[in-house]
Amino acid sequence: MKKIIIVGILLLTFGVVFLPAQTTDNPGLRPILHHFSTRDFATGPVTRVELSIIVQAGLGAPSAGNRQPWLFTVVENHELASQILPNITEGNVLIVGSGALDGANRDAVILDAGLAAQSMFFAANAMGLGIRQYTNPGLIGRTNALKAELGIPADHSAIIVTRFGRLPPGVDVLSSASPRANPDTRVIYR
Ligand SMILES: Cc1cc2nc3c(=O)[nH]c(=O)nc-3n(C[C@H](O)[C@H](O)[C@H](O)COP(=O)(O)O)c2cc1C
Repeated sequence: MKKIIIVGILLLTFGVVFLPAQTTDNPGLRPILHHFSTRDFATGPVTRVELSIIVQAGLGAPSAGNRQPWLFTVVENHELASQILPNITEGNVLIVGSGALDGANRDAVILDAGLAAQSMFFAANAMGLGIRQYTNPGLIGRTNALKAELGIPADHSAIIVTRFGRLPPGVDVLSSASPRANPDTRVIYR
């Protein structure tokens, strides 16, 4: 037993000291390099602990001038969530990102809310949850029609809705994404 512990400690030390971080095998990079938006969720709750970590990740996101112009409404109530996303799976939670969109900072506010939603995406991804983000006008329109119920101030507009839930068996965050474009068509190096 003692031997196994010593070998384990040596292997861990070797891994930490000698394995380079600049490799796609870096465990911290794997979900980022393979992110995936869940299509079909399994029933089951998202826990309060998971939600608090997700919210913490969003609130820690960068923003222009550190203005943090977002407001997040965490919708755990199934009936209310169903009014935003009909046929939503039991146990799914929606987080509505909203902000004040009138004025010169409109684009920055939208970008900041998107960055915060993406931080939530990665936090949930790292915990093995399914995630999908929504900005389609129909869904955003339904969300704006529920501002009072969602606690969204009148001068705010919904920007992005993120859905969190359990993944069905066999679906994992690393291998289920749809193909991405050829990098040559999306990146220019000079
Ligand atoms: C800003 C943003 C808005 C999106 N809006 C919607 C949406 O309204 N409806 C939807 O079904 N998926 C939406 N998605 C999810 C994308 O369709 C999905 O991320 C993309 O197709 C890649 O899928 P994959 O991760 O499974 O490969 C959105 C994603 C982002 C980043």
